[in-house]
Amino acid sequence: MKPVPKATELLAKPSPDFADKLSATQALLTRAADQWQPLKQASSLGAEDVVITHLINRLQLDIPVFVLETGALHHETLALLERLQAHSRAAIQVYHPQPESVIAFVKHPGQSAIYDSMAHRKACCGIRKLEPLGRALQGQKAWVTGLRREQSQARADVSAQEADVTNGVPIVKFNPLVEWTWGDVWHYIASNQVDYNPLHDHFYPSIGCAPCTRAISLGEDFRAGRWWWEDEAAKECGLHVKTSS
Ligand code: ADX
Ligand code: SF4
Repeated sequence: MKPVPKATELLAKPSPDFADKLSATQALLTRAADQWQPLKQASSLGAEDVVITHLINRLQLDIPVFVLETGALHHETLALLERLQAHSRAAIQVYHPQPESVIAFVKHPGQSAIYDSMAHRKACCGIRKLEPLGRALQGQKAWVTGLRREQSQARADVSAQEADVTNGVPIVKFNPLVEWTWGDVWHYIASNQVDYNPLHDHFYPSIGCAPCTRAISLGEDFRAGRWWWEDEAAKECGLHVKTSS
């Protein structure tokens, strides 16, 4: 059987103005690190996030990286986390959910209840992602994420710097790859030999928790493999939904 081409071979296609985008991203990250301390990068260990961490390390910026280890990540993601912990210059902080909340949810209504109702799915995201996010961002002035406009309709208006409110607390959010295309992301990964999640080689463009992520087929949307049983408009876990203060 012919080997499947790697994501770096299939997807690396820089925009004509890639060099300008890269300069703007580097300038934004440098300014954020200079003027918005304390701040952290939120990393899902997806393609966008490994690019940002690589830039933070290359520019020697004082921006620690945090990962919400939900207890439901793919083993490929956990293995990448281990490699990053071993090799990153920037500190890698790992936040876990409260074990008693997870155990209570798994007992009742049960983990598979996430497929039956959106309320249960959101309760799981609340326990495994939002509560730990609140702890990760406590006392921070800003955070850095890998959101890109191209990712979905809901993200089409995202700006490079935004006034955010997370868990009721005002905070500045930097989205340094906001204008990057998927081809730009893979061009950076390929040309800098950045370590990435091998699930990307198997048609997982967007990677979240294992029970809620599947591979996509030809022609499907970028986020079609996330919460695929729910309506398009509902496909957010709440990390990037502003909550009022
Ligand atoms: S989600 O809201 O649908 O889960 P998505 O997977 O697209 O988000 O990721 C968008 C950004 O949210 C990532 O670039 C990253 O900054 C942050 N993020 C998502 N999942 C995590 C995670 N498990 N840990 C830390 N940050 C995350
Ligand atoms: Fe739970 Fe799925 Fe949300 Fe992960 S993405 S926290 S498994 S509902």
